[in-house]
Amino acid sequence: MRLLVMLATLLLASAAHAADPEAGRTLAREACAFCHVVEDGGSGSDAVPSFPAIAREAGDNIEALRSFTVEPHPQMPQFADLSETQVDNLIAYMRSLTE
Ligand code: HEC
Repeated sequence: MRLLVMLATLLLASAAHAADPEAGRTLAREACAFCHVVEDGGSGSDAVPSFPAIAREAGDNIEALRSFTVEPHPQMPQFADLSETQVDNLIAYMRSLTE
């Protein structure tokens, strides 16, 4: 019985942790589209790399983009405000752009 409870807890924890690319896209539209083109056909600034371009460039190294969320730089304010889940979702969305 105790094992079952442990298993259920584990399953729930991993489900809660599964990154959601759709939520990432929504967040990108809200938080990033002011500067970045976050999807093909989206609007943004020509001076800023688009998400599809960033994702293609990163390829298998998408995880490395996480550092942008913990180290805000001048042009990208308020990054520390994102929760870990939001970052997971953004990364999942970026990854979906490379597929
Ligand atoms: C105020 C404008 C602005 C906003 C808002 C913004 N960015 Fe950026 N971002 C930039 C600029 C400018 C660069 C290019 C910086 C550089 O190359 O040094 C950049 C670069 C990046 C890069 C690195 C690109 C690369 O080539 O490695 C990532 C990843 C990124 N942004 C993600 C995001 C995410 C995710 C959001 C939304 C949560 C966001 N940005 C919101 C301006 C912005």
